[in-house]
Parts: sequence; C-alpha cells; structure tokens
Amino acid sequence: MTSHDRIAVVDFGGQYAHLIATKVRRQRVLAEILQPEDPVEAFDGMNGIILSGSPSLASGGEGGFNAAILDIDIPILGFCFGHQEIAKRYGGTVQHCRSEYGPARLQVIAETPVFAGLPEHQTVWMSHQDTVVSVGDGFREVGVSYDHDGTAHRYAAIADEARRRYGFQYHPEVDDTEHGEAMIRNFVLNVCGCRGDWTMARHLDEQLAHVRERVGARRVFLLASGGVDSTVCARLLGEALGPDQLHLLHVDNGFMRKDESRLVVEELQRFGLGRNLHFVDASDRFLSSLDGVIEPERKRHIIGETFIKVFEDEMRRLDLGDMLLAQGTIYPDTIETGGTKRADTIKTHHNRVPIIEDMIRAGRVIEPISDLYKVEVREMAEALGIADTLVWRQPFPGPGLGVRLLCSDGRAPEGHDPGRTQPLIDAQLEGTGLEGLLLPVRSVGVKADLRTYEQPVVLMGDAPHETLLSVAAQIYGRVPGVNRCVLDLSGRGIRRAEPRAAGVTRARLDLLREADAIVMGAVERHGLLRSIWQFPTVMLPLVIDGRGEELIILRPVQSERGMTARPTLLPGALVDEIRGPILSLPGVSGLVLDLTTKPPGTIEWE
Ligand code: XMP
Repeated sequence: MTSHDRIAVVDFGGQYAHLIATKVRRQRVLAEILQPEDPVEAFDGMNGIILSGSPSLASGGEGGFNAAILDIDIPILGFCFGHQEIAKRYGGTVQHCRSEYGPARLQVIAETPVFAGLPEHQTVWMSHQDTVVSVGDGFREVGVSYDHDGTAHRYAAIADEARRRYGFQYHPEVDDTEHGEAMIRNFVLNVCGCRGDWTMARHLDEQLAHVRERVGARRVFLLASGGVDSTVCARLLGEALGPDQLHLLHVDNGFMRKDESRLVVEELQRFGLGRNLHFVDASDRFLSSLDGVIEPERKRHIIGETFIKVFEDEMRRLDLGDMLLAQGTIYPDTIETGGTKRADTIKTHHNRVPIIEDMIRAGRVIEPISDLYKVEVREMAEALGIADTLVWRQPFPGPGLGVRLLCSDGRAPEGHDPGRTQPLIDAQLEGTGLEGLLLPVRSVGVKADLRTYEQPVVLMGDAPHETLLSVAAQIYGRVPGVNRCVLDLSGRGIRRAEPRAAGVTRARLDLLREADAIVMGAVERHGLLRSIWQFPTVMLPLVIDGRGEELIILRPVQSERGMTARPTLLPGALVDEIRGPILSLPGVSGLVLDLTTKPPGTIEWE
C-alpha cells in the first residue's frame, strides 16, 4: 500500500471525515482517516493532510489535538474547525461571531492553486458559529462569503503558499458546495502533487497478491451472508486461491428474504465456489430459541447468541485445522469515530465476538476489503463480474426479518391513554383535512441520542406530500409518547385498531416474506432499487376494524450510512400496483407508509 500517494484526513469527530476521504479517493488517491491525537509519525509517507470540521467542537474545544501535526512539512488544508485551527496556529484570531448554516455565496478574491479553474462566484455550504477574524503573517485572504442577506463574512478562504497551508470556512466535501470536488482535486493533485493512480484494477491486483502471500497453503473459512461485502470477499478469495482452499458457510437463520438463501448459494456456485460450500438451515434452531420472546432487545440478543453457537458448532464440525478466518469488514467499521462507535453498539455483529477477537489476536483473521468504503466495494464487485442485483442489494440487518416482525402480548402498551393523547393529535390536524389515530402498539425510536419505545399515529386522508411530511413531523415532534407517523395506504381508513398476541413463528415470517417480495419486486420494476437507500417492510400484529391480524408497514428511506434518515415518498403507480396484492394476502389487515425521519424514528421498527 505504501507505494501509493496518500492523503491523511484528520477526523475531528464530525461525520464529515469519511465524506472527505471518499471525495479524495474519487481522485484516485488513497485517503486514510487518522485521529487528532495521533503522533506525528503516523503521518509518515503522507503527501498531504486535510483537517475535517467538527460540529461538536464548533465553539473551539481542542481536547486531545496533537498540534504538532500542523508543523509537519507537507501541504495542509483545513475545513471549518480545521480552517480555524490553521489560522490560529499561525497568529490569526478566531471569534464567536454570527453563525452561518446552509448555503452562502463564495467570492474568490485572489488567485491561489486551490481555486485554479474556478469561477469567481459559487454556492458553498456553511455550518459554523466561530469565525476567523484575522490571519497571521504570510497568510492571504483568498475568499469572502456572503450569507442570505448579503452580509459579508471575511476570511472564508485563506492561503499561505510558502508554508503550503490553506483553509476553507465552508465544507467543500458536501455535494451542495459547487465546485467542491474541483477544490479538493486542486489540493490533492496540484498542491500535494499526488499522481491519482489508485485505481480499482490496481487495488484488486494488489489484494490478490496480498491474499496469496498471507494465506500460503492454509485453508480459509468465510461466512457468506449474501450481502455485497461477504460476496465480494468470497469472489476475491476464490480468484486468489481457487475453490479448494476456500470454505464457505451460508447459514439460513430463518430471517432471510424470500428465496434469498437459494439465490446466495446459486450465485456462489456460479462463481465456481461450490466445491467447499456448506449450507446450514438453522431456522428451526433460531425459531425455537425465540419461543415466547416478544421484547425487541431480547429478540436481537437471542438471535446474536444463537448465531455464534451455530457458527462455533459448524467450525468444530468442519475441523479445518490451521485455517484462517476471512471477514468482509469494510473501512468505516475499522475506524473509531463518533459515527461508527454508535453504529457498533446497535449492531450485535458477529465481526467482533469473543471467539473472533481471539483469532484476530492470534493473527488468524484476514479482512481483504477493510481498506474500502461501500461505494468502492461495489466498484470492486463490478470489476469481479458480480451480478448487478447483488452489487446493488440494499443494506440488510444481521438479524434480518427478525427485527421487522414485531411481536405483542396482546395488550395495549403501558401508558396507552387515547383519552389524553387523541385530543392532542386532533389539535395538530385541525384545518389540514386529515384524520389521525393513535395505534395501541410501540416501536423503537431514538430521541436526543436516547432509545425510545413509543407509539405511532396513523394519518388518513389526501394531502400533498410536503403537507403530509410536515404534519407528521408536527405530531411526532409535539405529542408526548408518539415517535412515528404512518399514512394509511389502504384507502379504507382505520376506525379501530386492536393489538393481538403474537410471537415469532414461521407462519408469520412466511407472510412477511410474501409482502416483502411483492414490495421489492415492484421497487425493482420501477427502477428504484438503487435510488432508495433501504426499504424495510415491517409487520405488526394488529387487527383493524375487526378485520385481519397483521398490519404491513412500508419503510422506504434515504440515508447516508444509516445514522440519520429521511422518509421516501413512493410513486403513486407503485403504491397502486402493490396495494391489491398485499391487502389480499391472507391475514393482512392494512397497509401503511412510514413518514418518520430518523430521529425520532429508527430505520427499523425494532
Ligand atoms: P436503525 O434501525 O438503528 O438502523 O435506524 C440503522 C441501520 O443499521 C441496520 N441495523 C442493523 N444491522 N444488525 C445489523 O447488522 C442489527 O442488529 C441492526 N439493527 C439495525 C439497519 O438495517 C439500518 O441500515
């Protein structure tokens, strides 16, 4: 890897560091995330450094920042908080002035290599409270920004060509900043002199050689879930080692989508990896471990535990001797940041369970795609000839449909008090022409970083998309005990909803699988598989107006990495296409669309 030019991105804790790294990599230059407290030696061999912004440090906290990084004699570019740190280090001052959020107009007022080829004016994206108000010797002001009412903000961009230090108050890494990519390209290619030769073809060749060298004559064992990461690993290892050395295990935990296990196995066979492909149908074992369990966290925990037991049993049964374990861990999961730390806690993931940690310590784990972001994994998948339908598969949680099949003891949730809550809902709906009803169930959500377990409200009636979304936001924002709003898609309205006792059963999972298959089929036909980030179909044991037993919930969302999410509205033609088939599935009582952002709703309902 050291043969490549590299840029270090110092992560000050915002979600922006990964975005910056992907934008640098788009220039075919390898970017690696480093931490502010890392020693100077960690930057050896880097061609340049980008300092990220930091929403949480907007007022200038510097905890743990090794300021000696700023003295390393390579080009450094700072964004937002990083920009302010650079200004301060060289004698400038930073003050708490008027905050700027969202779009501003940047005027380039002096020539500098980072602005080469740019027009004089462009829209840039701001998010800051502190501002640079003066710069030290050697620095020039090269950009001024104007906010929505025309107020000028000085030192929006600064440069010191002799020291090769640059700073932007705005965020060039976000797509809303015009020419942001050109600014990053100018820095990386022109100022840092990187060659831009980190192509996927080259990276793939290097990984193949690396795997061969690392593995030698040993056997390699890989869990193939069917997700794009493990599939790319399987294909890569197969290419490097051939089918004899590679043992694949696919476990059907009973929470897979319809026909999914069959398709996964077929795809792996198509790659010529069928020789040592082990398939275990553990669905009975998972189902019986969940007998009588209805509480979401317990369900998730039991599914995780059972998975580890199955995994250990299979390892023992296969008895592969001195083997290596391969994992499809990707780059964001190997980096400790605020963003990924939380993601780790919600995932009872099998990448870091004790037995695997022991193997990592013993040097027996190989992670061939751990340098790659998801978009790059997909690029590699394409380079390896993996089918489009697999490459573009939406993220699917480890516990699968297990977290989309809600259970109930048949009673309304504790604190369910329509006498108190319904008038508050009605007040929010006044004058909108919409009706709303509090549903006697709960789902998981998140408010101010805390997990909530609250009730949804179903809206009924016709209104433009924007109205529906803003009414929904008002209700879950203002009515205590409510964390979601859904929209009735049945066209029949809902007068009365009653919970029904239901646990995890094969019959319920099969029904959810059918509904999910109808939805995913329509999404594919309408060409929306790539543009919708994730589309869970959820099932809830609810009798509606005395009819049916299960409410089907559509949860299409847009998201970046799942930390936050926006509800996606579906084309009317798609809804018309799936309404009939879903409502006529035996036992289905209704069909609704989730209108909730994350926060306060999570993407999954459990
Ligand atoms: P939430 O529901 O927390 O989900 O908004 C965010 C993202 O994480 C996925 N997710 C999981 N993935 N094991 C996983 O591997 C889990 O237990 C799990 N729970 C949620 C979810 O599908 C979404 O993409």
